[in-house]
Amino acid sequence: MRRGRVWFTPIAAIAVFALTLAHAASTIKLGVAGPLTGDQGAFGQELKNGAIIAVEEWNAKGGVLGKKLEIVLGDDQHDPKQAVAVANKFVNEGIVGVIGHFNSSCSIPASTIYHEGKVVQITPASTNPQFTERGFWNLFRTIGRDDQQGVVAADFIVKKLKKSKVAVLHDKTTYGQGLADETVKALKKAKVKPVYYGGITQGEKDHRPVLTAVRQKNPEVLFYGGIHPEAILLTKQMRELGMKAAFVSGDGVWQKEFIDIAGKAAEGAFITFTPDQTKIKEAQGVLKKHKEKFGSDVGAYTVYSYVATNMLLDAIAATKSTDGPKLAEHIRKTKWNTALGPIQFDKKGDVLVSPFVVWEVKNGKFVQVK
Ligand code: ALA
Repeated sequence: MRRGRVWFTPIAAIAVFALTLAHAASTIKLGVAGPLTGDQGAFGQELKNGAIIAVEEWNAKGGVLGKKLEIVLGDDQHDPKQAVAVANKFVNEGIVGVIGHFNSSCSIPASTIYHEGKVVQITPASTNPQFTERGFWNLFRTIGRDDQQGVVAADFIVKKLKKSKVAVLHDKTTYGQGLADETVKALKKAKVKPVYYGGITQGEKDHRPVLTAVRQKNPEVLFYGGIHPEAILLTKQMRELGMKAAFVSGDGVWQKEFIDIAGKAAEGAFITFTPDQTKIKEAQGVLKKHKEKFGSDVGAYTVYSYVATNMLLDAIAATKSTDGPKLAEHIRKTKWNTALGPIQFDKKGDVLVSPFVVWEVKNGKFVQVK
């Protein structure tokens, strides 16, 4: 028995190794990265679920280039350092492209690694202009930019709400501060100068000291650049402090958890995001599949991730290649018909058309403002 084992072990090890190699060679791996766990995990799961639906559809048709597709997940926990670690791991593992990351503060530093590794990166969610402003050939986004989103927010405050006393807070991240600054820029064009401008720290639980300072300025509107976990605390704490100002924020707060957790404090909040996906005829298939597979409606970025994944896989099929520059060229020149409708990219990798609209939280739901 003893002898048998001694011989069996290395043979088994070699067999396992050979099988692993065979499996690796028979699949094409794509990376999906974002905050898959932690307080922004709900958004990371949207990216993951959109990619899963796309990959399952392709695998059901036999995969691509005769190989099955495999998703490799990278949890960056919305930490730029983790994002860079994920990017290095992805490139070393030979993934053919990346769907992600979610946060601009992660997508931008990670993109340098993907660029060096000649890997295509399509972010479904990162809206900071800098992502596509550095001349990298390998970057695309299926969502619009904050220099568009900020203008919509400012316009809404000035023209629709007809308010001019605006306080501005942000979370000091690339996205949060970037969106706040774009909004301020657009407000100033309309001759509105914020009565307060300042930052809060992500992860902190008590924002009442800064809100108290904001309250002294008697703002009619509090614009916040940041993600929903902090928006939950801010809306709750500003109401606790008796502040009546309208709460206005961006896509990072278009998250069901914001409404579910902030509850009454979320009511009446105005959030900029893209138009209603349930009204897009091409989206109906993926909306239905999501409901069947995950038992819930899609989130803000699920379909953006589904579309990004399909672009990457279509590029592999069309070019019969996994070569980064070839895939990027195909993605850039194609007139896409997607689940979000027609999409085309400009030279930088930005979508040619990207409307932002305003949503309001009404009776526990996001409702698009007419
Ligand atoms: N749009 C947000 C960002 O860019 C999610 O970080």
